[in-house]
Amino acid sequence: MRVLVIGSGGREHGLVWKLKQSDKVEEIFVASGNAGTADLAENIEISDSDIEGLISFAKGREVDLTVVGPEAPLVDGVVDTFEKEGLRIFGPTKDGAKLEGSKVFSKDLMKKYGIPTAKYESFSDAKKAIDYIKKEGAPIVVKAEGLAAGKGVIVAQDVEEAIQAVEEIMVDERFGQAGNQIVVEEFLKGEEATVLAFTDGKTIVPMIPSQDHKAAYDGDKGPNTGGMGAYAPAPVVDDKMMERIKKEVLEPTIKALKEEGVKFKGILYSGLMIDGDEIKVLEYNVRFGDPETQVVLPLLETDLVEIFEAVIDERLAKVNIQWSKKTALCVVMASGGYPINYEKGKEISGVAEASKEEDIVVFQAGTALKGDKLVTAGGRVLAVTALGDGYQDAIDKAYENVEKIDFEGAHYRNDIGGKAVNRN
Ligand code: AMP
Ligand code: GLY
Repeated sequence: MRVLVIGSGGREHGLVWKLKQSDKVEEIFVASGNAGTADLAENIEISDSDIEGLISFAKGREVDLTVVGPEAPLVDGVVDTFEKEGLRIFGPTKDGAKLEGSKVFSKDLMKKYGIPTAKYESFSDAKKAIDYIKKEGAPIVVKAEGLAAGKGVIVAQDVEEAIQAVEEIMVDERFGQAGNQIVVEEFLKGEEATVLAFTDGKTIVPMIPSQDHKAAYDGDKGPNTGGMGAYAPAPVVDDKMMERIKKEVLEPTIKALKEEGVKFKGILYSGLMIDGDEIKVLEYNVRFGDPETQVVLPLLETDLVEIFEAVIDERLAKVNIQWSKKTALCVVMASGGYPINYEKGKEISGVAEASKEEDIVVFQAGTALKGDKLVTAGGRVLAVTALGDGYQDAIDKAYENVEKIDFEGAHYRNDIGGKAVNRN
């Protein structure tokens, strides 16, 4: 079978790497990919927002299955358009993608159906939002309503900072239309976890729980990023907690969508805050996480194509999904200055050397080839994933190999996995 993967980050390198292991797959195309996907598949120069271009490629090259990595094409209705053309595609339709594309929609859905989440109000008037913030006090969280490439959430420590966030989003229109409305919500404390789940709208199969590291610097300091590293499983979600998440979050979410007339098929990503025995949903996404994918898929033992096909054909209940007992941990290496300003085009060394090691996979994100040289081409450049026996082993292996890789200005967190080790 011929598979087309849409996207160009580390998550998509992870998807291609896993799909490549399937006996069913003959050829993989990636639109538009990176230097890592180019090693395993054929990169094609079509942007992930060019739905017409993607359809004409899928038809012309007789693609049997298309897999969507990022949220933007899902929110734009890529799945609806492919299906209308009779093409097989994995992911939710536009009405389901609203769960990620509209914070007001997802918060209102949670409130209506009693799914636990932070107390909130939504506003389309900056002055009313500011009055509410003054009344509630800080810390408080301000979120742009629409997609903002992971940067639309400001966790404000004081009222001034929250007001400034409202002004930047609503008055200066920092995120364009995405900021016409905002959600202001209660600050939650606790430990974060990601639960990704496969669902065909009837059956829900959670993957191994994982934990991202959103802040740029050690000790969860500095600005939020797309994610500086991850590990799986996340011990904060033990078997008992996972059962509760299924009953209190995953099943009610799919049921709520159904009652609203939405059949949700694809990946349901629940970003959770866990505080003792209290679970709250921070956000939903409608696709694989990045960098969570780079630790979850290396633990998946079942053929990913088999799962994707079962979701599309609504027979997920019949697939027996198996996981490795190992621990996976990845450390993201980012360009100097990321997530604010960073330079591109720096030569990267050591990737081949690290990739030679058993139990190590280097997933590339912002990379490109300049002649035969591997160079940086984005903020998050690559993630070094290690498989280990337990957290300390995975940490040691990952950092031993991070040290082999170098580019000018490279920075990474030194404490990925620390929370998991310190619990024991
Ligand atoms: P989101 O995109 O909604 O997941 O928000 C990005 C990050 O902001 C989350 O991963 C949390 O670290 C933080 N965050 C979001 N909402 C809250 C909240 N209500 N309380 C505390 N932190 C939050
Ligand atoms: N790692 C967070 C996300 O994928 O949204």
